[in-house]
Amino acid sequence: MQSQKQSRIVIIGTGAVGSSYAFALLNHHLTNELVLIDMNKEKAAGDALDLNHGIPFASPMKIWAGDYEDCRDADLVVITAGANQAPGETRLDLIEKNLNIFKTIVHQIMNSGFNGIILVATNPVDILSYATWKLSGLPKEKVIGSGTILDTSRFRFLLSQYFNVDPRNIHACIMGEHGDSELPVWSHVHVGSRTLKDLVDVEDQNVQEELNGLFEQVKNAAYEIIRLKGATYYAIAQGLIRLTRAILNNENSILTVSTLMQGQYGLDDLYIGAPAILNQEGLREVIELNLSLEEHVKLKKSGEQLKEALAPFRHLL
Ligand SMILES: NC(=O)c1ccc[n+]([C@@H]2O[C@H](COP(=O)([O-])OP(=O)(O)OC[C@H]3O[C@@H](n4cnc5c(N)ncnc54)[C@H](O)[C@@H]3O)[C@@H](O)[C@H]2O)c1
Repeated sequence: MQSQKQSRIVIIGTGAVGSSYAFALLNHHLTNELVLIDMNKEKAAGDALDLNHGIPFASPMKIWAGDYEDCRDADLVVITAGANQAPGETRLDLIEKNLNIFKTIVHQIMNSGFNGIILVATNPVDILSYATWKLSGLPKEKVIGSGTILDTSRFRFLLSQYFNVDPRNIHACIMGEHGDSELPVWSHVHVGSRTLKDLVDVEDQNVQEELNGLFEQVKNAAYEIIRLKGATYYAIAQGLIRLTRAILNNENSILTVSTLMQGQYGLDDLYIGAPAILNQEGLREVIELNLSLEEHVKLKKSGEQLKEALAPFRHLL
């Protein structure tokens, strides 16, 4: 048990992502109580039974298929409900469908008297996190999107293979939209304490091609996994676990999440992926990296694309 305090997590949407996260929560034992909510009540009930039968191999925990009233006493509500990408669909293609779903979900969460932290993973995650912040009326610190946490993890994994170094010693991040306009922050890649320039000749064309290819793999990872098996869920579940631990254990960890920009990086009034410090209050602060000019331009463009994508649906908020 990492935290002695009584805590409750509610998962809304026990599909592939939600149930993978629930299974990981049981194994990591990050909470005493876990509530599963899905519009498919049988799926949530089945998952609760299945997970309960694993408790004797883990440690005591209370798990049940519940209702929105259960959100009242929750520390953390994690939303993984909604449509996912079909093969060939981009994350932005899901906006209208999932905004309508979120309107009903967020309304019901807040009607319970909930006053904790909401973590959003449903795509397009930047737009839905912004919508959740608007629809809930919660302070911006209490609404966090999983943002580019998964892309960052994919990036660190591939860099670890490239340099043959433990991924935990790779410090690097992907910023921007969790989607096609995201960008690799090459200027802040560190392997141990060494920069990219210390390790490779960044002017060499072959090196540049290899690194660009590596980023393309990061950007297209979801498309590839969806082509192969229909959906991606294990790695995002692990990412949600990392965020949960940072929040419930008050870690002040720096992780790349989707958060409200209010002037940082010259961006305003949108949620987008950036490194930030997380603790039990939610999001403590956004870290403003000293980006290269090219990275800065790409980030601005990514922000503009998110705003343009939301514009036709703003009336729904
Ligand atoms: N943020 C990330 O990095 C990341 C990674 C992978 C997937 N995702 C996203 O997560 C979301 C879920 O993906 P999945 O593969 O688990 O999908 P899924 O279809 O397996 O599960 C979605 C679940 O949501 C439920 N649901 C739908 N509408 C609901 C409502 N109104 N109330 C309650 N439950 C509702 C469905 O019954 C289903 O069980 C998708 O939007 C997907 O794109 C995000």
